[in-house]
Amino acid sequence: MDHTKRPVVEALQKFQAAQPVSFHVPGHKHGLLSGLPSDLKAALRYDVTELTGLDDLHAPTEVLAEGQAMLADAYGAKQSFFLVNGSTVGNLAMIRSICEPGDVLLVQRNAHKSVFHAVELAGAHAILLTPEWDEQTCTAGALAASTVDVALERHPDAKGVFVTYPTYYGTTGSDLELIVASAHKKEIPVLIDEAHGAHFVLGTPFPPSALQLGADIVVQSAHKTLSAMTQASFLHVNSHIVDTDRLSRFLSMLQTSSPSYVLLASLDDARSMVANYSEKDKQAFLAWRLTFIEQLHKMKVLEVIETEDPLKILLRQKEASGYTLQRALESAGIFTELADERQVLFVLPLLTERTSYSTDSICKAIHSAVQELQEEAVPTSIPAEPVEHEQLRKLVITTSNPVRDQAQWVDTENAVGRQLMDSIVPYPPGIPLVLSGEQLTQRQIEEVCHMIESGAKFQGAVRANGSTVEFEVMSVQGDDHIG
Ligand SMILES: Cc1ncc(COP(=O)(O)O)c(C=O)c1O
Repeated sequence: MDHTKRPVVEALQKFQAAQPVSFHVPGHKHGLLSGLPSDLKAALRYDVTELTGLDDLHAPTEVLAEGQAMLADAYGAKQSFFLVNGSTVGNLAMIRSICEPGDVLLVQRNAHKSVFHAVELAGAHAILLTPEWDEQTCTAGALAASTVDVALERHPDAKGVFVTYPTYYGTTGSDLELIVASAHKKEIPVLIDEAHGAHFVLGTPFPPSALQLGADIVVQSAHKTLSAMTQASFLHVNSHIVDTDRLSRFLSMLQTSSPSYVLLASLDDARSMVANYSEKDKQAFLAWRLTFIEQLHKMKVLEVIETEDPLKILLRQKEASGYTLQRALESAGIFTELADERQVLFVLPLLTERTSYSTDSICKAIHSAVQELQEEAVPTSIPAEPVEHEQLRKLVITTSNPVRDQAQWVDTENAVGRQLMDSIVPYPPGIPLVLSGEQLTQRQIEEVCHMIESGAKFQGAVRANGSTVEFEVMSVQGDDHIG
């Protein structure tokens, strides 16, 4: 296949070149009626709809079918889909496609919130599988095959295994192939959230892609590590166990009926980029990365942590929390992907032979930020131990969940033992710390308060009101939804 071709991009260019007159949606009429700044408005020329020659994402037969077939070819999948509602919609659709209400799904505990939303919407029962603690990144890491084996033994009725590979921090572990083998022995599919690994297809030194390791359905945020626009994702199927038509039907139900052609074109372009990424491009990226890391190492106050994914690095500064370091870097114009109590996470640019980032000016800015911080730093206490979870826990979030008028906000004194109305989600990374329906423990309350004090931002059932922290709990106490 000629991957330099971008059928969707080319169709849009051809359409525009004919100077079409618009009597159709969208109402901005190729940007004419838009009040956006001129450079943003210029892109609206391509913000069109399902017009003749541009195909239809929900019943593709022309350029979108061609673009998706090229995507499948680039990734070695049987069938691939363009997603315009992020990996979020991929997670929703893949879980719904294999779970009916009441079905059991084995789910890695440190999954993105969209996975728990998918379980809730499907009315499924999740068995939470505790991942291994990753010493390198000091975060919840990859799933051990032994944990999955125990879960498969205890829950022979499970409809599938849901794995996050890699984690937000770039941890992959080494057990995915074994996990796939165990699940396939039981003839159930392995669903992978590879939101952070769309570039793994490029080969060593990047970790192997989940498709290469035999996964059945894989969702990837092409916008996170490739060149696609925010919201633009890929979904791949490579399985004889999965019903692809059913999956496609759920994708169609859950995605907008007006998919953005600008997003679709960016997916087509990202596929072309990844498929044409040459060994020389990779060497150029790796050489740039090495220079960058060497310069960072020279800043003695910084600790540089390399993860299993060469596209991610972590920076720590002694006696400063990640949040403080993040703020200091931001004041020097450097914006990181996320901060936690220990560190900040950088997502590096997947550079090519022809593109570059100036390490000198970037490192100068980082150096001035960390020096300033070093002079002012107030030592912060960093929790050493993760909250322990049992190896397997059952999560039931079904329609029996209480309605919103049974919710109430309570302060920390009154929150212990109360059931949460919604999950508590530090954002980013969007991985729930405590799950909807779970009974709050003193330890969890302290952890959330400590994180808020350090500068973490939360979504869901917690809010900070001045110095008061409140939790949204159920006014009527039911059974703990987790057991
Ligand atoms: C592991 C993981 N999965 C899924 C998602 C959702 O991806 P998207 O933003 O493409 O919807 C995210 C977003 O941060 C994520 O980190």
